[in-house]
Amino acid sequence: MNNLVSMTDLSAEQIMAVIKQAQLFREGAISQLSKSYTMANLFFEPSTRTKMSFEMAERKLQIEVLPFESGFSSTLKGETLYDTIKVLESIGIDALVIRHEENNFFESLIGKVKPVIINGGDGTGNHPTQSLLDIYTIWQEFGTLEDKVISIVGDVSHSRVARSNAHALTRLGAKVRFVCPPQWQGEFDAINEFDEVIESSDVIMMLRVQHERHDGNTSFSKEDYHEAFGLTIEREKRMKESSIIMHPGPFNRDVEIASELIECNRSRIFKQMENGVYVRMAVIEMILKGRE
Ligand code: CP
Repeated sequence: MNNLVSMTDLSAEQIMAVIKQAQLFREGAISQLSKSYTMANLFFEPSTRTKMSFEMAERKLQIEVLPFESGFSSTLKGETLYDTIKVLESIGIDALVIRHEENNFFESLIGKVKPVIINGGDGTGNHPTQSLLDIYTIWQEFGTLEDKVISIVGDVSHSRVARSNAHALTRLGAKVRFVCPPQWQGEFDAINEFDEVIESSDVIMMLRVQHERHDGNTSFSKEDYHEAFGLTIEREKRMKESSIIMHPGPFNRDVEIASELIECNRSRIFKQMENGVYVRMAVIEMILKGRE
């Protein structure tokens, strides 16, 4: 692994190697990096979880982190992403985490710049480290993904989380189903009735309604959406005893998920965030060690 831009870059074996290393970090393993490194996190779209957990992971690996504020960078004067990365390469940055509104922004960089590129989310395209932390959380719960029934519910067509997980979960043997209104189905085969999947799911993964990508055309009121596609308290009661609730965050309380369920016993939402640090440590260490 030289960079990480999409889950399609990773074999099932590589995914499991990341998960096993994340588990070692959780158990207290320390960094095996033999050189000192400098990284920067370039976020051109808002983020709390991904940006802060990458920074935590970098610090835990003893990596120097240089701050970058996209709102005060020369991209506002028209500098291209490629030229920005060449600047950071020139001053000695070894690896970059980038979140960008443009799908496949990384195509202009891979093979053309020296720093490692880790995709922190590209438009509606990919979010590989979110997928890895989701996989880690499911593996931690069940010890395997083989034959686990995972229902991904909500704003599927706008979701880079759904897109990244679609490939990766299936490759690991899980049975993935998408549940959404027909207009948010995109390229996916989807079930349009949430009530059809509640009792049979091992994991119900709710997705955020991405109002910012709807051009003001959200066709549901919050109440109607919650009624038809929200994880309500009534639906949670019908879930299997062993099944869990996930959500990548940030969540719209009482839209895609009832506020009371965010921290309920079967919710793993904050566990996902905790796991994100260990997974990101594993990804960064594996890529940098591979280049040593
Ligand atoms: N899950 C996720 O990507 O959250 P942030 O947008 O806060 O990084």
